[in-house]
Amino acid sequence: MPRNRTDEVLPAGRRPVGRRVWDLPTRVFHWALVVLVLTSYLTGEFWRGVDMQWHKLSGYAILALVLFRLAWGFVGTRHARFQDFLRPPGQTLSYLGGLISGRNSSYAGHNPLGGLSVLLLLLLLLVQAGSGLFASDDIFIEGPLAGLVPGVTVDWMTGVHHLAFDLLVALIALHLAAVAFYEAVKGQRLIRAMVTGNKQIGEAGAEATPNVPSAGFRGLLSMVLSAAAVAALVLGLPAWTD
Ligand code: HEM
Ligand code: HEM
Repeated sequence: MPRNRTDEVLPAGRRPVGRRVWDLPTRVFHWALVVLVLTSYLTGEFWRGVDMQWHKLSGYAILALVLFRLAWGFVGTRHARFQDFLRPPGQTLSYLGGLISGRNSSYAGHNPLGGLSVLLLLLLLLVQAGSGLFASDDIFIEGPLAGLVPGVTVDWMTGVHHLAFDLLVALIALHLAAVAFYEAVKGQRLIRAMVTGNKQIGEAGAEATPNVPSAGFRGLLSMVLSAAAVAALVLGLPAWTD
């Protein structure tokens, strides 16, 4: 049995125990991402302003968040680590089979399908924000790195920026449907866990699932370093290559 797995079916007479499974930085990351993706959509489609400065700022913030989360996948607390939730394809497929037949274990962290969707969301957000750096509307607005590459690359990146957004909308819709399914059908309180950090875990599994630390300071440091990397990229690179 993988060390982070906990039994879904509680042994008779045993009560679930509350455990902190999501550290503070992971939760702040998630809800900040939700607000910023919405902001990027609104400022990309409707409120473009004079030079889309809010769109760009919110895009940089998303880029910093994604860099943070990729690093946090290695240095974060137990269930935030990639090692905890990225499974081999065979295991992910058999989890999917179990979901259909109704025989599955629940996980303290992300289940194998959830873990896969986390990785896809992060990669897609990276492509979305990364392509934005090189995108242009051919009139007034361009990303900070568009001047560093040939026009044909700018056109290509602008196309990628549009396509990535369509894919992102589809993946977010799937994400929300999956969360609603676990909440409504499986009775798992995933949203509350992403807010408070705590999940109810079967007594048997709870023994193997200690509370994760809050990790606020480590998280803040990682976020500051990620923001500095983005600032160096969008401010430093164009100035340096001038
Ligand atoms: C812009 C929209 C959204 C994006 C891009 C997004 C992205 C993500 C990502 C990347 C994770 C992984 C968290 C981590 O491990 O760091 C996640 C998890 C999660 N998200 Fe979202 N999310 C969005 C909207 C929402 C909304 C609106 C809700 C709730 C109503 C929600 C509920 C959850 C829950 C419950 C999890 C944890 C799933 C689990 O326990 O495996 N998300 N989301
Ligand atoms: C994940 C973050 C981002 C999201 C979700 C996003 C989304 C969008 C959307 C929906 C549009 C409108 C596309 C259309 O005209 O239909 C757009 C356009 C644009 N975005 Fe982003 N964007 C993000 C990040 C960025 C970043 C970081 C930059 C650059 C700093 C950027 C630069 C641009 C530019 C220059 C356009 C205009 C392109 C055109 O009109 O053809 N975006 N973006």
